[in-house]
Amino acid sequence: MVDMTQQQHSSRLIIVSNRLPVVIERSDDGMSTRPGSGGLVTALAPVLRDRGGIWIGWSGLPDADRDAVDQVLKESSVFAGYELRAVSLTARELEEYYHGFANEILWPLFHDLQSHCHFDPSYWAAYRGVNRKFAEHIHAAAAPDDFIWIHDYHLLTAATELREMGVRNRLGFFLHIPFPPPDIFIKLPWRFQILSAMLAFDLIGFQTMRDKRNFVQCVRMLLSETRVHSQGGFHILNSAGREVRAGAFPISIDFAEFEQRARNREVAESAWYIHEALPDRQIVLGIDRLDYTKGIPYRLEAFRSALSRHPEMHEKITLVQVVVPSRVDIPKYNDLKIEIERLVGDINGEFTRSGWVPIHYIFRHLTRGELLGYYRTAEIALITPIKDGMNLVAKEYIACNLEANGVLILSEFAGAVAQLHRDALLVNPYDIEGMSDALHTAFTMTHEERRRRMLRLRATVRRYDIYRWVEGFLDAAVSRHLYDFPVISEYIPPADSPDPGVSI
Ligand code: G6P
Repeated sequence: MVDMTQQQHSSRLIIVSNRLPVVIERSDDGMSTRPGSGGLVTALAPVLRDRGGIWIGWSGLPDADRDAVDQVLKESSVFAGYELRAVSLTARELEEYYHGFANEILWPLFHDLQSHCHFDPSYWAAYRGVNRKFAEHIHAAAAPDDFIWIHDYHLLTAATELREMGVRNRLGFFLHIPFPPPDIFIKLPWRFQILSAMLAFDLIGFQTMRDKRNFVQCVRMLLSETRVHSQGGFHILNSAGREVRAGAFPISIDFAEFEQRARNREVAESAWYIHEALPDRQIVLGIDRLDYTKGIPYRLEAFRSALSRHPEMHEKITLVQVVVPSRVDIPKYNDLKIEIERLVGDINGEFTRSGWVPIHYIFRHLTRGELLGYYRTAEIALITPIKDGMNLVAKEYIACNLEANGVLILSEFAGAVAQLHRDALLVNPYDIEGMSDALHTAFTMTHEERRRRMLRLRATVRRYDIYRWVEGFLDAAVSRHLYDFPVISEYIPPADSPDPGVSI
């Protein structure tokens, strides 16, 4: 008899995400591809190559010529060692499904920012339609034993579409962003449809216990006929004769790869030049996609407050704030860019002295070498999202901090806090003075203390890397155990925290 676990493990894997792991580019000679950014592909590619598999995602080009896209992906598939298949979207679908429902409704709502939502009913119809389109591609590609793993908030209703098409395969889902608490989730006009559609998956993965708890509370509140109990680290939800499991799987990075790349000569030189240009300064690093969830304006205010309250930091500290362009067609994102640039101008105008500009502001994609150079050399990382699914910048900074002399200042509302709270300086990203105190604490922290904290942070991220995450999710998809459960216990802010800048 074939062992079921063996069989499931060796079955093919179908990965589905809004974006493909490659970027298709139009040029004068036709189309070509280059690798996309993002760590997911690093961890999934070897599994896809091993087990055989397919990655299905949007081509990235509106109204693209289907045949040309298929042709270029055929060539990249040979190179990648697994098949890449594109879903084509029209410019209108892109507008209403991607910009609209995904990024003007789900994204702000799931980050607790309901006031940023634009609840346009036409977005919902487009979202359902595009999820159906993705489901049709999956249906056409899947063999009966394949394990289908769907990613992120763009595709919350894909499983229910697949079930309606008669697909009986095991379906996994991972939500890369937070899941909001019930009081916020119920603002969604399509709350019942979204939640019940999610119950068509077999396994639902969240970044943290906080997100899983929120999801379970929403189900209890809105779908009262669903029975819920917990077992072995999972919540088991039973409804309409189906069983769905929900677990927390904190995503990570390829620690070894970051560490190794940070060691190479180009990065070492880039790190040296960065400091050479800023002698006797501590560099505070902020790196974010342009997004209102990243808390950049509050962070800039905190830096201003630190400079006002601690004049001894003048000329001894520089904030390098990198903002990577993102979703610039959405008005809220452009408004944010203007606000950031105004604040940077204000603060620099107030404090700049000959030979010292307090904030270096960069609005572009960094090269890999530049990015790793900053990670390797910055004395302080200031990572203060107002809410974040995980925040991999924090983990990348840790992996590249080879000299173990960096201090991580981390928001209490980043998913990463569940694993890193012991050794980071924790801050409430809305508390400007608290963040300014944390900056001062980091600035004055002794070498020994920095080292002690950073070595422990490095050990945690090294141990729980992206490979462990993939393995953990795929194991959970076929067995009932949840790996290393204690490390992801929920982070709860201390009851009496007179100084929010001090870690607990
Ligand atoms: C977040 C989401 C991803 C998304 C990424 C970049 O990390 O969880 O699904 O791909 O942002 O956003 P974009 O809209 O450019 O794909």
